[in-house]
Amino acid sequence: MPTGNSSLIENLEDLRKEVFSALQGAGDLRALEEVRVRYLGKKGAIKSLQKGLGSLTPEERPKVGAQVNQLHDEVESALESKRDALESSALEERLKKEQIDISLPGREDRPGTPHPVSILIDEISTIFARMGYDIYAHREIETDYYNFEALNFPADHPARDMQDTFFVGEGLLLRSHTSNAQIHYMEHQKPPFKMITPGRCYRCDTQDATHLPLFHQVEGLVVAKDISMAHLKWTLETFLRELFGPKTEIRMRPSFFPFTEPSAEVDVWFEGKDGEGKWLEMLGAGLVDPNVLLACQIDPEEWSGFAFGVGVERLAMVRYGIKDIRMFYENDVRVLRQFEGQRQSWRR
Ligand code: PHE
Repeated sequence: MPTGNSSLIENLEDLRKEVFSALQGAGDLRALEEVRVRYLGKKGAIKSLQKGLGSLTPEERPKVGAQVNQLHDEVESALESKRDALESSALEERLKKEQIDISLPGREDRPGTPHPVSILIDEISTIFARMGYDIYAHREIETDYYNFEALNFPADHPARDMQDTFFVGEGLLLRSHTSNAQIHYMEHQKPPFKMITPGRCYRCDTQDATHLPLFHQVEGLVVAKDISMAHLKWTLETFLRELFGPKTEIRMRPSFFPFTEPSAEVDVWFEGKDGEGKWLEMLGAGLVDPNVLLACQIDPEEWSGFAFGVGVERLAMVRYGIKDIRMFYENDVRVLRQFEGQRQSWRR
């Protein structure tokens, strides 16, 4: 049955109250959307009222229709402004939550510390620079000639076994010692001269507490008139006393290297904490073999020289009491940071 004009108008009033209280009660955007569907949706209450207009008399229809449409528009714009309000308060809420707490202490940005091997290379370079030595650097990828042949290791010489290295093709290898730099230097420098050359070396060794396939050496080379073992001994003693303290004692034992004659192994005396001391092998050294000078067009009748080579990791292990060489390259910052400010420790 068609609804009477007055009752429909009453219904409209009730509906208006209902819708506005529902709107007021919508606390968030989801609840608001539910209200919209409930009243303005396709099957919503206002939509069905509009559909119901057809059952009114032609006189009633325009009047009631206008009121229903007005309600529809009011609700629509109320919904709109409620949505705006909810959206901006939701944004405010989020901004509040995401606020950066500037009272939090910042992350520490610690600068790095020098690696113990670098500390020692620096220190050794400083000591020799003060004695008037050139500091020289040369290649790590090398030919057989510079790493072996010119240093008086013939192709089939058994001394090569001690320096097995990595062959990288086309007659190239990774240098097994810094002695290759002796040859490069002497090809361009006429004696007399003094130089040291620090750098990386490689050997085909299996890793253990005292061996790594990559390590560092500092090579020294002096060529002048009448150089003798006495000059070598004085130089090494001076160097090692600078490094380990003025009371440091050294000794030289006969040894063999193809590029020095005579050759020596140099030991340093270390006092243990328990009062027991021991000799620790530190360097290889000797007088430059005449064949090496000849390979560089230097006349061995006129000139003579000494050379030495020292393993930097070995020095660092003794200096810092490190038992395992691998610790230098595990990149554990807790280990590496300890050497900060450790230069010239015996002087403090
Ligand atoms: N090159 C030698 C080595 O690596 C060390 C050395 C250098 C010995 C200079 C004598 C002279 O074992």
